[in-house]
This record gives sequence, structure tokens and C-alpha cells, in this order.
Amino acid sequence: MTATVPDSAAKLPEGVALRTFSGIQPSGVAHLGNDLGAIRNYVRLQDEYEAIYCIVDYHALTSTHDPQLLRTNTRDMAASLLALGLDPERCTLFVQSHRPEHTELAWLLATVTPVSWLERTPTYKEKRESQPDDINHGLLTYPVLQAADIVIYKASLVPVGKDQAAHLELSREIVRSFNNRYGETFPEPQAVFTDAPTVIGTDGVRKMSKSVGNTIEVLAAPDVIRKQVTSMVTDTQRILRTDPGRPEGCNVCQLQRFFGDDYEELWDGERTARTGCVDMKRLLAERIVAHYAPARERYLELMAHPERIDEILAAGAERVAPWAAETMAEVREKMGLR
Ligand code: AMP
Ligand code: TRP
Repeated sequence: MTATVPDSAAKLPEGVALRTFSGIQPSGVAHLGNDLGAIRNYVRLQDEYEAIYCIVDYHALTSTHDPQLLRTNTRDMAASLLALGLDPERCTLFVQSHRPEHTELAWLLATVTPVSWLERTPTYKEKRESQPDDINHGLLTYPVLQAADIVIYKASLVPVGKDQAAHLELSREIVRSFNNRYGETFPEPQAVFTDAPTVIGTDGVRKMSKSVGNTIEVLAAPDVIRKQVTSMVTDTQRILRTDPGRPEGCNVCQLQRFFGDDYEELWDGERTARTGCVDMKRLLAERIVAHYAPARERYLELMAHPERIDEILAAGAERVAPWAAETMAEVREKMGLR
């Protein structure tokens, strides 16, 4: 989809290119939901905007407490993003904790954010269920840090999957609250979705997610991808091979839309029972393997040279430093910090 320029873009200083920002958790290598739901838009927007992308390790600490794993996963996610099409010549990629100003701004934004807004955040309620023994304060304040990530660069557009819609709405509310109290400072960021805003996992029910364990790891070895696609739950109402299929209710058929122009023909084969679910899965697996083969090659090449990844990340953090400093100076002044 083409992003429309929001009115709030007008609040950027004159001569500054429109900025797009997104953050991604260092949860290891990227999965199909990340790519179809968000990363494709990161790649597209880097040609249209000043594009800033961040691996959010501070956010990850709200659920991950293994230092070695966090370090490894951060580099893995950087390699995945670069392999999937982020180009350090056309965008800026860095690690959140390399720009600690994000946390300073998060504190300042916390003072204009009612606790009740945070308590009603859907992800906070979910985390309370999923990690009842570790309901740390970071989980509650997570969306404030997310708002700080975006507004420290005065970004107008935020490419994300649909699961982030509530967080983005909260970011907008925090911006309005700040601007009301201290004067127009930040543009209201707007979410940008792809045509696959929620990718369902291999279980056919829940959103694809590493923590659920229902992912298709797009940069994994071909046999891993084949196994994951083969495990997919299809149309549960189609019992016999001769039963007509219902592509609208089949996750495998839904995913065919993104891997070839012939999906309507394929769906017709399903509806008339000319093809079976197993045939569809085999075809989808081979198409996913073929589609991501060049990215996998780039990923392996990068992982063989971790120093190159680290250089790109360090250069990214340097590049955004003056932008973060400029916003912090303005905010400190407006809030009366001396
Ligand atoms: P995360 O791994 O949760 O940091 O997600 C990174 C980006 O991928 C965010 O913009 C998410 O909204 C998006 N995303 C994650 N899982 C999915 C999914 N199953 N479908 C669509 N987008 C997703
Ligand atoms: N909360 C996002 C996720 O779980 C990650 C994130 C952190 C983010 N900061 C952000 C996304 C800023 C967009 C903009 O996927």
C-alpha cells in the first residue's frame, strides 16, 4: 500500500525529510509474519522517506533475562533485516540501547501518561497472563518507551503489523498529552500496514509468533521451512481428499496470495477438489523456499562476518545521535529542565 502523508507531518522543521520509524524485538531470526506484516514495508519506505529502524533490546528485557541469548538474538535480527532488504545506504539501522536518550525521553513522557492508559493496554493484560511470575514494571511502561522511540526522531509514519495498532494509538495519545501541556512539539505518528496485517501461524488459529511456536522461519534451511509448512493446519472442515476445499478458511491458501499471481487458479483447484491440501502445502513450501533463497544467502554471508553487522549497527547509532540530541534539547527546554 502507498503511505499517505499525514497532516502532522507539517510539524516537522522546514527542510527536514519526512521520517519513518519502526522497532522490532530481537527475538532471533525473522518469521513470515514479521516479513509479510511489517518488514516488507520497512524495505519499501526506505526509498520514500528518511527511514530509521531499531532493534529494541530494552523492550526485550521485559521478557528475556538471558544476557547471552539477548546478545546473539540482537545480531541475528540485524542480519535478518539486512538480508531481507534493509540497505544501510538507504536507511539507518541501530540498536535501541546504543541510544540511551530513548529511555530519558520515556521518563519524561511517563510524566504525561496516566497509569490507567497503560493498565488497559491489551499487550500488558496478555503478558500478565503469559508471565504471571514476572509482571515487572517494564511491561507496564513498555508503550511509553515505544512512544519515545518514535517521537525522539519526530517520525510521522510507523510500519507495523496489526498487533501494534493499540500501541500506536497510545503513542498518539501520549503525543497529544505532551503537546497540550508543553506546546506543539511532536507529530502524531501514524501506523502503516501491509496487505497482510495479521499473518496466522502454522496452527491455523493464532497470530504467527515466536513465543507461540507456530512460525515459518523464512531464513532457515529449506528443510526446516518444508517441515514447518507441512505442519500447517488447513481447512478443518475438509475431511476427505474428495471434499471441496474452502480457500477463504484455509491458511495455506491465504498465504499462496503472497507467493505467485496464480492463486485464484489454485483456489479453484481446491474448491473443485482437483487438488488436495498436501499438494497445496508442497507448492507453498517450495515457493517460500525459492522466494527467500537469495535472502538466506545474504543472511549466511553476514553471519559469517559478524564484525560487518556490528559496524553497520554502530554507524546507525552514530547517525541518529544528532537527531536524538536535538529533540532532547528542545524537550528539556520546554519542560523546564536546566
Ligand atoms: P515483534 O517480533 O513482535 O517485534 O514484531 C515485529 C514486527 O512484525 C511488528 O511490526 C509486528 O506488528 C509485526 N508482526 C509480528 N508478528 C506478526 C504477524 N503474525 N502478522 C503480521 N505482523 C506481525
Ligand atoms: N512493540 C513493538 C513490537 O513488539 C516493538 C517496538 C518498540 C516498536 N518500539 C517501537 C514498533 C516503535 C514500532 C515503533 O513489535
